[in-house]
Amino acid sequence: MDRKYLLTAFGYGLLGLVLGIYMAASKNHGQAVTHAHILLIGFVVSFVYAVCHKLWLTGAIGRLGAVQFFLHQVGTVGVVVGLFLLYGGYANEAVLGPVLGAASLVVLASMIMMKVMVVRTRAT
Ligand code: HEM
Ligand code: HEM
Repeated sequence: MDRKYLLTAFGYGLLGLVLGIYMAASKNHGQAVTHAHILLIGFVVSFVYAVCHKLWLTGAIGRLGAVQFFLHQVGTVGVVVGLFLLYGGYANEAVLGPVLGAASLVVLASMIMMKVMVVRTRAT
């Protein structure tokens, strides 16, 4: 699971950097919030989860771990795509608001699940 998180983290890392370089080159910083959250939720938080799995969740994490991974991916894709459409002006804010709200709550839920897994793991 640490490797799965590491690979998705670098995927978002590359995507975020490409968008950052595109903004810098085009002198259009309109997607700064999208860029920031691809890198912060997609790269940084996923990387932190990879480290949690590697260092602390070395025991059996079972189904909760798989669901936690799935929810973080779904929530991140929702936030990233929603922000891109919002800041690119490709879709109506009235439509995107609820989508972004729901995706954010999924990201939150998966972080709560990560905390539950860490709490359940006995300190060594
Ligand atoms: C190739 C590397 C990068 C380039 C070319 C780049 C480019 C940019 C540009 C052009 C902006 C908009 C600035 C503005 O108008 O305010 C920005 C904002 C931002 N970038 Fe990057 N970036 C890079 C890497 C990163 C990384 C690695 C992170 C975090 C892990 C990051 C996080 C942010 C954040 C949080 C903002 C929003 C700042 C704000 O609006 O207050 N960037 N970046
Ligand atoms: C579900 C999760 C999240 C939600 C709903 C959320 C929401 C927001 C909102 C509404 C803003 C203001 C955007 C604007 O300037 O109009 C913002 C900015 C920012 N957030 Fe988040 N955020 C989330 C996760 C995170 C995480 C995990 C990090 C860091 C690890 C982070 C770091 C930042 C930073 C640095 C800014 C300023 C960037 C900018 O103004 O472009 N956020 N966030």
